[in-house]
Amino acid sequence: MGVLLIIFVLVCSGYAQNCREEEPRERKCENVCSDDGICKIRAALLLPKNTTFDASLPVVEPVFELAMQHDVVRNAFPPWVQFEWRRYDVSDCDAAYAVITAIDAYNDCSHVFFGPSCDFALASVARITKFLGNTGIPLVTTGGLTFDFVQPKQNCHHEYYMMVRSGPLGFKDMAYFIIDIMRHYDWRQLLLINEPEAQVHVAGKSTCLLMMKTFANYLKKEDIIYTPWDTTSDGGLNYTENLKFYLGYKYTKSSTIDDGGVGRWNWPRRRPMSTPKPRPVPLMLNTASQAPNVDANAEATSTDDFGHGSRRRLMPTSMPIPVPVKTADANQARRTNECC
Ligand SMILES: *[C@@H]1O[C@H](CO)[C@@H](O)[C@H](O)[C@H]1NC(C)=O
Ligand SMILES: *[C@@H]1O[C@H](CO)[C@@H](O)[C@H](O)[C@H]1NC(C)=O
Repeated sequence: MGVLLIIFVLVCSGYAQNCREEEPRERKCENVCSDDGICKIRAALLLPKNTTFDASLPVVEPVFELAMQHDVVRNAFPPWVQFEWRRYDVSDCDAAYAVITAIDAYNDCSHVFFGPSCDFALASVARITKFLGNTGIPLVTTGGLTFDFVQPKQNCHHEYYMMVRSGPLGFKDMAYFIIDIMRHYDWRQLLLINEPEAQVHVAGKSTCLLMMKTFANYLKKEDIIYTPWDTTSDGGLNYTENLKFYLGYKYTKSSTIDDGGVGRWNWPRRRPMSTPKPRPVPLMLNTASQAPNVDANAEATSTDDFGHGSRRRLMPTSMPIPVPVKTADANQARRTNECC
């Protein structure tokens, strides 16, 4: 019985599966040691040549060369193992180029990938590395700042299994830094001004959009109200006017008009129970001109979290502002409209 068990264990442990749940197709070139006894780890650098990006080949390669000379690194590997660095240019830190360079690196029998570092490029490559090679090719990167990349990566079911983030900081940390400041001063809502395609040198395309996405994700979790303002959709207004619009319209509720229960105004969606109710609206408004700060042309942003979406005009310019009626019903109507 004991012998049977040992045989069973041996048979089972000899049967390795990869993330595709099939037996790996052996590729001889993936062996670290070749037939003539030379042992080499082939490491692929998947980074852009363009030095606009913080992590680029001309910057990172010398760092690796220096690191390899350090005793700690040298002692970490047996002396008979050599290293071979191969460079692959991920043009523009672009996702498509990243995938094709990863395929090239795989065909060249690389054992480990360093990079890509831009988030979109990294996402495309990191999703497939678990299926490459006999048991997946490990990917080490200082990128991966968006919150998706901080999810667990312990088995084949996890999206970015085989990826290792070596960077000290991600967008989540930055988000919680700001959230902690808000908590400290007891600030409860914020206007999120964002230029989606700025700071591309940090994480490639849409760096700021991804930062905002991450930030918005944790603001929701922490029940902090935010209004997104994507500066690229300016609605034909300059910054001064837009700032007035976003701050005036969304943050001074006491001066917004009563829509008489029509309910087409976009109130901020998330209102935690702890938020104090706005001051009561002055109710004796008879003419449009008496309504302070009211802009009949006011546009409402879409409820899209990223401020992407279309803006729509709520009323034609010529339409008169509805005159609120001072009744308990109007108050009631307003209260019911506020909830969502
Ligand atoms: C490097 O990348 C930046 C940003 O994408 C681009 O504006 C610039 O033209 C690129 N430079 C070269 C030499 O390709
Ligand atoms: C924005 O537009 C307003 C109204 O057209 C104008 O008065 C103001 O000077 C402009 N501000 C800037 C910074 O251009």
